[in-house]
Amino acid sequence: MERSSLLYYEQKTAFTINAYNEQALYYLAERVGTPYYLIDERALRANYEKLKSAYSGFNGRTVIAYSIKANFNPYILNFYSGIGINFDVTSPEELYFLLKSGGNPEKVIYTSVTEGLNEYKEILSKGVKRVIVSSLNGLNNLISAAHELNKVPEVGVRINPEVQVKAEVKSSFKISKFGVPLSGSSSETAIKLLKIIEGNNNVVFGGFHFHLGSQIEDPSAYVQAFDKLRAFLKKAKKETDYELKFLDIGGGTPVNYGIKVPTPEEIGMQNVDKINELINETGKQFELVVESGRFLSAESTMLVSKIVNSKFYNSRKIIYLDTGYHQLLDIALLQQIYPMEVIPTDDTANSQDEKPLVAGRLCDSMDMFQVGPESKLSDADIGKLVVIKNVGAYSIVFNMPFHSQVKPAVIYRDEDGEYFLARKKQTVEDLYEEEGGSLLNNEVRLT
Ligand SMILES: Cc1ncc(COP(=O)(O)O)c(C=O)c1O
Repeated sequence: MERSSLLYYEQKTAFTINAYNEQALYYLAERVGTPYYLIDERALRANYEKLKSAYSGFNGRTVIAYSIKANFNPYILNFYSGIGINFDVTSPEELYFLLKSGGNPEKVIYTSVTEGLNEYKEILSKGVKRVIVSSLNGLNNLISAAHELNKVPEVGVRINPEVQVKAEVKSSFKISKFGVPLSGSSSETAIKLLKIIEGNNNVVFGGFHFHLGSQIEDPSAYVQAFDKLRAFLKKAKKETDYELKFLDIGGGTPVNYGIKVPTPEEIGMQNVDKINELINETGKQFELVVESGRFLSAESTMLVSKIVNSKFYNSRKIIYLDTGYHQLLDIALLQQIYPMEVIPTDDTANSQDEKPLVAGRLCDSMDMFQVGPESKLSDADIGKLVVIKNVGAYSIVFNMPFHSQVKPAVIYRDEDGEYFLARKKQTVEDLYEEEGGSLLNNEVRLT
């Protein structure tokens, strides 16, 4: 990539917005157009290390697994593969992305929702060794796939601890699409699946998995889950001779979007105490798996957009950005508040000053950005850039073409401070083609 002195500043530190880097943001805007996403490798490493050290008190081996669903950009997958992290993968297509980006199938924890026979055949043939099942049908399909391919995957059972979760996205309900209940009269309980696995030579039992939700605001949900699991393990020991090799506690570590949330250290400390108790009680030195999509990727990325219109509605200023929920879905779906800053930032501005309303470019009233107290929006004039921070998780992967809008470019800044184009901006011609444009002239008859 062409070198620019603007871009060779602060090479050894994470990207922080300051007078010098503000010029870099404008320079990059000229190179790739706005909006664009900017991913910072330093933040990926820093958050991995924070999460890992949060569980350092665990009396055993801790494995961190990156949940690809949060952001499957090949540069991110390549970076995390390079540092030997594990991966939570949910579909054969995600596995394709990972393997093409340099990932190792032996580092994969495959947790599917669909759990199909052909799906399992595909991922086992590509070298995946650990699979989490969530239903009896899924387990039977895995056994058949393993038998056919003459493989013996390690299987984990996804349980639903049915606990109350305070989180932006909850995954543990009384009746849930995810996991099986710990007990009950149905043929699909954790104990029943465990017995099938124990009695089958095509799979070997590995452990249990649960995932409570995303952006967990109150970590006591984990404590409730550990307490239920503990009682379950005791009971299961009486009925089968299983050996617990791993416990996977899913994702959920929250991100500070400007509103206080528990830190990884606080959650880790609480969880480690409970999990160490489990080790003492079971006498088994199992591996702890902590999954994370949001915490590992969100803070690495900003969305750089431009103010393209502005007006006063009576006395209230409204600014319009050239982005919207088609590039940041959670502003509409979850009313997510992201910290925002006009570039150049006026640090002398009074934070009590009334801030403008921030509208997206879509013709939809849901397309408004909530403005939090930490956002700096003074001198928000047409032509200036607005940076939206902490958008690395669950945003790029949800890009959509509403209003025939193209996918923006993604730029990746590596740890040496060098910038790379990590995704080309889509052209409107490409989009037209993808949406079937040329089929108008080259008909494909299906009858
Ligand atoms: C099984 C599983 N693990 C991990 C995650 C990642 O959650 P988060 O991004 O909140 O860490 C998810 C998210 O949906 C999930 O379904």
